[in-house]
Amino acid sequence: MTENTTLKKNSISFGPSGRAVAQEIDDNLLQNLYQHLTMERNASVQYFSISLWFKEKNLNGFSSFFLQESKAEMDHSYKFSDYIIARGQTVNLQQLPAPIQEWKSIEEIISFAFNMESDLTASLQQIYSISDRSADTRTNVFLDPIVDAQINSEDEFATILGKVKFSNNQPSALLILDGELNKK
Ligand SMILES: [Fe+2]
Repeated sequence: MTENTTLKKNSISFGPSGRAVAQEIDDNLLQNLYQHLTMERNASVQYFSISLWFKEKNLNGFSSFFLQESKAEMDHSYKFSDYIIARGQTVNLQQLPAPIQEWKSIEEIISFAFNMESDLTASLQQIYSISDRSADTRTNVFLDPIVDAQINSEDEFATILGKVKFSNNQPSALLILDGELNKK
């Protein structure tokens, strides 16, 4: 009969929240996850603020698009906080800056959103390389679909930016784009 080694293994470590920890998480990796969670929450608040800016200008297509984006960023925030808890850690919620509410043009807003998305991707890449270095496969697997979704977001904002630039601030062209975004 073979011996059951699972029963023999009785030293379980517990994290600061009191949950069992299967693999200790590297502290630098954890700090980067906290920082990334802050970036996702910040993006959510920023997109919410942009959604209101468009609504005030009766551009309801842009407004509903940014409201959806705001909700998507909140979903990402849930994913990161759930993951941190699943790894036996407590979630450190950092202070968020007040969202920008004044913009010179639609092009400025979409450029800002594109840059924010590429900053989010850069942050994921950094986490990826840290988890790679600390042989934390769990984190790499967790990040894979998120990196994929980030690439789609960058692509989406690049397309909208291209159309906004092409419209050259002409109201009729912007209204067509507003209608397109409403159907999304
Ligand atoms: Fe996100």
